[in-house]
Amino acid sequence: MPYTLLVRNCGQLLTLAGGPTHRPLTGPHMQDWPILADAYVACENDRIVAVGPMAELDETQVTTETQVLEAAGRVVMPGLVECHTHLVFGGNRAHEFQRKLQGESYLDILASGGGIQSTVRATRAAPDETLLANALHHLAGFQRYGVTTVEAKSGYGLDAETELRLVRIAREASRRQPVRVVPTCLGAHVPGPEYKGRPAEYLHMLVTEVLPQLSPAEVPFVDIFCEEGAFSVEQSRHYLAQAKELGFKLKIHAEQLHDLGGCRMAAELGAISIDHCDYLNPADAAQVAANGRTVAVLLPLVPLFLRQEVYAPGRQLLEAGVPVAVSTDFNPGSCPSKNLWLALSMACLKMGLTPKEALAAVTLNAAWALDLQAEVGSLEPGKRADLLVLDVADYQEIPYWLGENPVRDVVIGGIQQ
Ligand code: NIG
Ligand code: FE
Repeated sequence: MPYTLLVRNCGQLLTLAGGPTHRPLTGPHMQDWPILADAYVACENDRIVAVGPMAELDETQVTTETQVLEAAGRVVMPGLVECHTHLVFGGNRAHEFQRKLQGESYLDILASGGGIQSTVRATRAAPDETLLANALHHLAGFQRYGVTTVEAKSGYGLDAETELRLVRIAREASRRQPVRVVPTCLGAHVPGPEYKGRPAEYLHMLVTEVLPQLSPAEVPFVDIFCEEGAFSVEQSRHYLAQAKELGFKLKIHAEQLHDLGGCRMAAELGAISIDHCDYLNPADAAQVAANGRTVAVLLPLVPLFLRQEVYAPGRQLLEAGVPVAVSTDFNPGSCPSKNLWLALSMACLKMGLTPKEALAAVTLNAAWALDLQAEVGSLEPGKRADLLVLDVADYQEIPYWLGENPVRDVVIGGIQQ
């Protein structure tokens, strides 16, 4: 069959190919992936079928049916994988920005009934159409940044009905536009207002009334916020173990503001990812590394926006053998930004990643953090044809043009958007 799409004359083709197939990248593998000079990518329908130097292009497969995308010496890379967002919510928290500037902390605002609880009120009050329209608006924004896969957590309903509604809306949003949405149940964000002071009872409600109504095939992940003011390590362990029993894969928000040991506990349970990790200590990092599979998802825009000095020890995590991904954590409270390129730059500036490591962290390792490594995250035959043509000639420019969007063309499933 002739190629349906050919991306030609890629000045630098960041393949992210050839890494281990049984575990995410860490240590030296984060940057030993190949960059092909003067290269092409060929696709048949929604799949990549060939990648290589222009000199080896099989011209017999290029026909009048083939759409040709001329990269003209630019950088071409896999579509970005955004592996941690809170996509579906009502309202916004611009009114809390001033309070933050005046020195109130994230947990102070939460304890006063603001923060997550304020978004819960706005979300419960919003009709489905509004929440869906908001989600579609944000997905269009992500797509402009070259994000082709987005994880979307619930967690602003905090009652059975609204949590299920948020998951349904995330799935509907996936059907309505090209960016793939992977829903996660974060019903265990904080105890719902009706369960104030009764976190264990709230988790029991989730296990009996919410999780049984979700299918792991459609909603693969269950997540929990393990933190002071949210859930303890023991409560999180009990809940995640039950979710695992029901067939869900696990994620956790842990060590965001305190070192409680949530990351180590979740890695012991085989979590696919542990997210935030700002306060993850070296001994626990070594334990996480030992399981070989759990990805630390680092979210450098969160301490920036919360005006905190502590950033996850990205460089040390890689040296300890922990696989690292980078994401925005897009949400109305701790990161109202969809700019994954800025997060990538900040991972270099504040967490010590090199440009190649940071690029692996927003593509292949982010795919591992969603257990989608066989589908997306690198440019290899058999994978989904999700790729970007960037308006730069050298990959080192990507983290350098701070806050800019380098995307020129976005291809999702073999179709130029
Ligand atoms: O990942 N830390 C907990 N949850 C979100 C923030 C949610 C919010 O403040 O609305 C996070 O940072
Ligand atoms: Fe989050």
